[in-house]
Amino acid sequence: KKKAPMPDDIRARKGGEPLVSLTAYTTQMAELMDAHCDFVLVGDSVGMVLHGLPSTLGVTMEMMILHGQAVARGLKTAMMVVDMPFGSYEESPEQAFRNGALLMAETGAAAVKLEGGRHMAETIAFLVARGVPVMAHIGLTPQSINTLGGYKVQGRGDAAAELMADAQAVAEAGVFSVVLEKVPANLADEVTAAIAIPTIGIGASAGCDGQILVVDDMIGMFTAFKAKFVKRYANLGEQAEAAFADYAREVRAREFPAAEHIFADQAPEKK
Ligand code: KIV
Ligand code: NA
Repeated sequence: KKKAPMPDDIRARKGGEPLVSLTAYTTQMAELMDAHCDFVLVGDSVGMVLHGLPSTLGVTMEMMILHGQAVARGLKTAMMVVDMPFGSYEESPEQAFRNGALLMAETGAAAVKLEGGRHMAETIAFLVARGVPVMAHIGLTPQSINTLGGYKVQGRGDAAAELMADAQAVAEAGVFSVVLEKVPANLADEVTAAIAIPTIGIGASAGCDGQILVVDDMIGMFTAFKAKFVKRYANLGEQAEAAFADYAREVRAREFPAAEHIFADQAPEKK
């Protein structure tokens, strides 16, 4: 039986066959994607995708724990990573360890992910030294939306050197991989060539060591907006809405339930 990889196995995939990952927030989705993914991220995107929040800033530890537990029940062969929510790790390495350890203990996650480059390097090293494997997330970091001033492409022009410095800092601090979000493709390729750990692209480059997408975006369930970097592989939202419309019409016409959905007064005799 195939076993789920560990963070070191993911790290060892540098330069090899691209790593496949998606986000998940529920048991059912986790079950459906388990066999196809190397790792599954319980992203703080859950706040926008499932809870209707305007950004990821309102996501709490409690939400990450509940969704992490749900996803864990659906995974057998994919590794699980859980996002550290806004405010749960930035204050100090100690705070980050306390909450990172809690996320792992409560959900069974193999690792946590946190946003930030050079300014999080000390915290990353502190966690890794104490048994909390860390995936970093640089480039567009949605938890900093209010200081970044919008969901813009990161690392263009003079900012390229800063993004490269962030990638090198988190790699040196000991992360087993790093997400590059919404950065120019040539810069993503340069970062991928420059560091010894896998880069996971989202709005980055096919040359990254792996890719990730938000599941509800790629299956067309979350349709409030679509980033340029999202490819819709299905339109489940449209299909669901059509199903709701059919159901409503049939109920109002007394066509549902039909004969095959209802029960007779007597149970049919068994042969
Ligand atoms: O929360 C999330 O879904 C993420 C991925 C987009 C990387 O952080
Ligand atoms: Na996230």
